[in-house]
Amino acid sequence: MIRRQTVLITGGSGFIGTNLVRLLVQSGEYRVVNLDALTYAANPLSLADLDGNQNYVFVKGNIMDRELVSSLFTKYEPVGLFHLAAESHVDRSIVNAEDFIQTNVVGTYSMLEAARAYWNALPVERKSTFRFLHVSTDEVFGSLGEEGYFSEVTSYAPNSPYAASKAASDHFVRAFHHTYGLPTVITNCSNNYGPYQFPEKMIPLMILNALSGKPLPVYGNGSNVRDWIYVEDHCGAVKLAFEKGKLGEAYAIGANNEQKNINLVNQICSILDDIAPPVEIPQLRERGLKSYSELIRFVADRPGHDRRYAIDSAKVTRQLGWQAEVGFEAGLRRTIEWYLSNPKWVEHASSGSYEDWIEKNYAWREERVEKESK
Ligand code: NAD
Ligand code: TYD
Repeated sequence: MIRRQTVLITGGSGFIGTNLVRLLVQSGEYRVVNLDALTYAANPLSLADLDGNQNYVFVKGNIMDRELVSSLFTKYEPVGLFHLAAESHVDRSIVNAEDFIQTNVVGTYSMLEAARAYWNALPVERKSTFRFLHVSTDEVFGSLGEEGYFSEVTSYAPNSPYAASKAASDHFVRAFHHTYGLPTVITNCSNNYGPYQFPEKMIPLMILNALSGKPLPVYGNGSNVRDWIYVEDHCGAVKLAFEKGKLGEAYAIGANNEQKNINLVNQICSILDDIAPPVEIPQLRERGLKSYSELIRFVADRPGHDRRYAIDSAKVTRQLGWQAEVGFEAGLRRTIEWYLSNPKWVEHASSGSYEDWIEKNYAWREERVEKESK
């Protein structure tokens, strides 16, 4: 039997973290220590099934708590670290960037320092195999026109406060490799979708709004393009980059799946029409709703809204042999079915401060459209 190696993951209770923790534990190769502050974006139900599993340890705490992080390195002696903890929603960063600077920039710097101190003190053979895997986004590259793709050689041009904070964190990771030799690898992935995504993000927001008969708010004219990847495909690439990625390098990850926002919302509506028709939901039937697409509304655009993202993932395929496996129609269906089958998770995610956020992000958009149409 292979002895499991211990890895530390930050942000393991968020959307991608939940899927990654599960992949690592189920692989039979790793014992996972998850450090997460459980912000609004985390859901304690997401990993409840791993409670009591001897290969999973949860630690509630902030990545900026250097003493705590150092004590975790000393106690668990991980062979490496997956750094995912972040503030991750562009619209929230537009309202207030403070938490993004704290967690994404200062927090990443703090993790790098703690990892460097631990790594420096490791015996030579363990030093050479240690990895700091930094999970980042394609949004650091800015916005594309009609043509072209982001790749590892694209210049950084972040446009939102979120993207700027992630870009800064990438630069610190790069600098710690270049200056101190810390064995780092960065992944820059496109938009993820799948189970466990907090419902303020586009795909779960549209699914859950539709099912409760609320408007489906499409920013601008819906022609912005995102390159969507199923979250489990992304996690597979992150695991490979951790195990086989070249030190000091970055990998652009995407599934070659560009979708215009309005087309995506229409696809969600048509899958929902098929598996949860409005005529079978009493309050929607009473309103005479025939298709969820009747709920689509175009609302005021996101300030500085990036036009198009698209990833050229040739390097990760060539060097690490990775390829996305889940087709978009199948992945979207699986995602919608997951949200339909997990009402308790949804209820928890939509409670607390969620309604306040919805009010803050959407009330002004509706007002502005009304004024414009007068
Ligand atoms: P998420 O918002 O769902 O989860 C973030 C997690 O980090 C939460 O569990 C939260 O509690 C935790 N966290 C936040 N601040 C913390 C702090 N100071 N200390 C400890 N824990 C803290 O985010 P996600 O969508 O799962 O994204 C994970 C990572 O992947 C992020 O770094 C993000 O930038 C990156 N990424 C996301 C996408 C995407 O489409 N979601 C795409 C590419 C890259
Ligand atoms: P989002 O899920 O916030 O991801 P990101 O901004 O990181 O790409 O949004 C995806 C796309 O959907 C983006 O172009 C903005 C758009 N969008 C809407 O049209 N309406 C919404 O209510 C939301 C949340 C997003």
